[in-house]
Amino acid sequence: KFAILNGEIIERSQAKVDVEDRGYQFGDGVYEVIRVYNGKMFTAKEHLYRFVRSADSIGITLPYKDEQLLELLETLIVKNNLQTGIIYMQITRGVAPRNHAFPTGKVIPALVAYTKEINRPVEGLKTGVTTILTEDIRWLRCDIKSLNLLGNLLAKQKASEKGCFEAIQLRGNDVTEGSSSNIFIVKNGVVITHESNHFILKGITKDVILQVCSDNGLPVEERTFCLAELEQADEVFLSSTTAEVMPIVEIEGNKVNGGAVGSITRKLQELFEQEIE
Ligand code: PDD
Repeated sequence: KFAILNGEIIERSQAKVDVEDRGYQFGDGVYEVIRVYNGKMFTAKEHLYRFVRSADSIGITLPYKDEQLLELLETLIVKNNLQTGIIYMQITRGVAPRNHAFPTGKVIPALVAYTKEINRPVEGLKTGVTTILTEDIRWLRCDIKSLNLLGNLLAKQKASEKGCFEAIQLRGNDVTEGSSSNIFIVKNGVVITHESNHFILKGITKDVILQVCSDNGLPVEERTFCLAELEQADEVFLSSTTAEVMPIVEIEGNKVNGGAVGSITRKLQELFEQEIE
């Protein structure tokens, strides 16, 4: 298999980073996960846009043009013969002697990308997944897709230890997002999800879902919602690049909608599938 390292496609086993790469030492970088269906990237432009925006918000300028990068990624998919899976891509500030402040000299940001085969999570999509609740202990710039994921990791690990798929995070009494997904509730036919501000990552899948809702006349409210609303919701689901529209049928051992996948969630799954075909 092949990987991209600093603008070149090389053998994955040859793609190595320096011990003083700032991504490795500080998590000083940003990343993206892009879905590949049938050998083609899904919502590639949106992911690239967010990648550039994340990088820009921490003062990293991509040393490649969007088109250049897209072409590289497309070549990587072909070379790796990837049909269904993901591209993982990250950029760090680069290699410099360890110092918290940004390096002053000319340092070239280090870009890495590789592919991974991942099937669609068909079983979960059919029957739904279970979740736990956890405190959102992360920083206040969750809109940046930062390599610093310790808060997210600790949340996911907690879910994992309880045999659950995801941890739903609460900031005070408000639901923010999952450890690696956005959270939606449905109440009286209205689809509700956290507004895209600094408390959550503006999910690309979330935006596709909101677009699909608006195209099909499904009412949406993009706003903060609290724990009680989550607990009293008719339906709950999560969204992400890898999980798509994933029904949540249990929260902290309590069944949602009697443990069955709700009708609006099903409808959104159908509409989402039409987008990826
Ligand atoms: N996670 N919120 C967080 C904290 C995330 O890490 C992700 C994605 C999302 C959903 O975003 P999108 O729909 O653009 O994938 C929301 C990726 C898949 C990951 O870290 O693997």
